[in-house]
Amino acid sequence: MRTSKTLVAYFSLTGSTRLIGKAVAKELGADIEEIVPVRHYPLRGSWLYLYGGMQAVLGATPRLERTILNAHDYDIIIVGTPVWAGRMTPPVRSFLNSLALEGKKVAYFSTFQGSEGQSLKEMVDAGEGISLGEKGFKMTRKSTYDSVTAARQWAKELNR
Ligand SMILES: Cc1cc2nc3c(=O)[nH]c(=O)nc-3n(C[C@H](O)[C@H](O)[C@H](O)COP(=O)(O)O)c2cc1C
Repeated sequence: MRTSKTLVAYFSLTGSTRLIGKAVAKELGADIEEIVPVRHYPLRGSWLYLYGGMQAVLGATPRLERTILNAHDYDIIIVGTPVWAGRMTPPVRSFLNSLALEGKKVAYFSTFQGSEGQSLKEMVDAGEGISLGEKGFKMTRKSTYDSVTAARQWAKELNR
């Protein structure tokens, strides 16, 4: 029997979503790809919150630097986003819009400081695939270690 091929694709501005993505990919022996927008966001400051938050709420779909051309080769695609203004980030929206996920197994995760907001529901609605599950990870200084442990556990459950 063929083993299923899994891809973890994520956008991350400051590294938290990357950390969770890497833990999930390692647990599953999955490939991992970063979703990179052509126009980069500032790394900090009020303009980031204003512009990034507004773009997330408006449902913007920025151009991505490279599309993951062979996404269709994967049986399972796990997509991760930071939460911006209670939503998924614009690059992840672009990514989900660019893929035909119908009939594919998908799982979603988001990382946040306070709450996941609508991020996971939005991804499930945008993704069209057969959802294996979704999970949010709180990434404050206090909770990051536990979240990475929870991410490994979540990956194990997805693999069953
Ligand atoms: C523009 C912007 C908006 C954000 N909005 C929220 C929010 O609504 N709720 C929340 O809990 N965290 C919010 N955050 C915090 C991030 O979701 C959190 O730090 C996330 O883990 C960052 O992921 P990254 O390091 O992969 O970029 C926001 C951060 C930014 C930059």
